[in-house]
Amino acid sequence: MSSSSSFPVVDIHTHMYPPSYIKLLSSRTTVPYIHLPSEPGADPRLIILASDDDPSRPKSSRGRPVDSTYSSFDSKRHFMTTHGITCSVISLANPWLDFLDPSSALSTAQEINDDLEKACAENNNSSAAHKGVKLYAFGCLPLSAPAKDIVSEIRRLKTLPHVKGVIMGTTGLGNGLDDPALDDVYAALASTSTLVFLHPHYGLPDSAFGGPDVIARSGHVLPLALGFPLETTIAVSRMYLSGVFDRHPKLEFLLAHSGGTLPFLAGRIESCVAHEREFIANGGHKQGPQRSIWDVLHSNIFLDAVIYGQPGLKAAIEAAGSVDRVMFGTDHPFFPPLGDEKDSKWLSVESNKAAIDGCLPQDQDARRKILGGNAVRVLGLDL
Ligand code: URA
Ligand code: ZN
Repeated sequence: MSSSSSFPVVDIHTHMYPPSYIKLLSSRTTVPYIHLPSEPGADPRLIILASDDDPSRPKSSRGRPVDSTYSSFDSKRHFMTTHGITCSVISLANPWLDFLDPSSALSTAQEINDDLEKACAENNNSSAAHKGVKLYAFGCLPLSAPAKDIVSEIRRLKTLPHVKGVIMGTTGLGNGLDDPALDDVYAALASTSTLVFLHPHYGLPDSAFGGPDVIARSGHVLPLALGFPLETTIAVSRMYLSGVFDRHPKLEFLLAHSGGTLPFLAGRIESCVAHEREFIANGGHKQGPQRSIWDVLHSNIFLDAVIYGQPGLKAAIEAAGSVDRVMFGTDHPFFPPLGDEKDSKWLSVESNKAAIDGCLPQDQDARRKILGGNAVRVLGLDL
């Protein structure tokens, strides 16, 4: 498949740390930060996860190397062409603006969102667009600012033609996504039909994995393979249990990494809710969720297809209720090929594509929906 493919291939999970954000991280010395090594030729290090900042290691080997693939639009276009991707909906990567002082959060969000809009507009008016490489973006929100500033940025983003939703993490205003203080934000997202791309960052406490020494033995494997998906699962389960989807029935979320483990555990959540004596519906005194988790999955939730294997993707399609609610993604620039094969196809991308082919071998229409048709429809992309 090439970038001149006859059907759109849209990557809805693809990150950028735009130059202004790289500058911000490079100005910091506590997590999240970029360490600029003094040794000539050494790559800067991206130290964003709490478990990255292990004081027993020199800073020059903490976290991961960060090269131009993280911030260069040319690198993004090169990656897209190599993998036959015709359109990318780029998003700021974790931890977004979660760490900012409330006084600078709104202006920083506006600056980054304007930078993303400009980069997409310039790309789409250039020869790159004629070669079949289009860019759109998910904006970011100033979540540490007062709720009224978050709402004003949600409304402003609707005026930026290349911004097709927002990306955010699981902490909300600091107390999780079931915080009643988020109600005005949810109301603004729902009334503006703004899709929220929900993405993990914080994982689980180190103690869940046996402590820092155990984590250090396998680097990022436990935090990324297990911590990230469980963080998403817990965040969405808390939203569901607190009635967010009852109060905001039009809210729409796109969940990273195929919803973490939610597709696999939804039946168990539904069963535990049906057996919880505390809930009014079962004779208790507490308001439980009023809608079935399956109803929420089928009407409020979309899932990406970034799960790297057939069993996970099958569960995602099944839980989403249809192939119409699952969308291809890559997680670029994370998970690059190691070693010298920088220009080759990325295993992380090819395994996601192979899972789509393997799950739906006889259904070209469904494969094309997941690879791009769903994103075009849901996000209203002009391709
Ligand atoms: N690692 C991250 O920190 N973020 C991602 O999105 C993927 C891997
Ligand atoms: Zn990601």
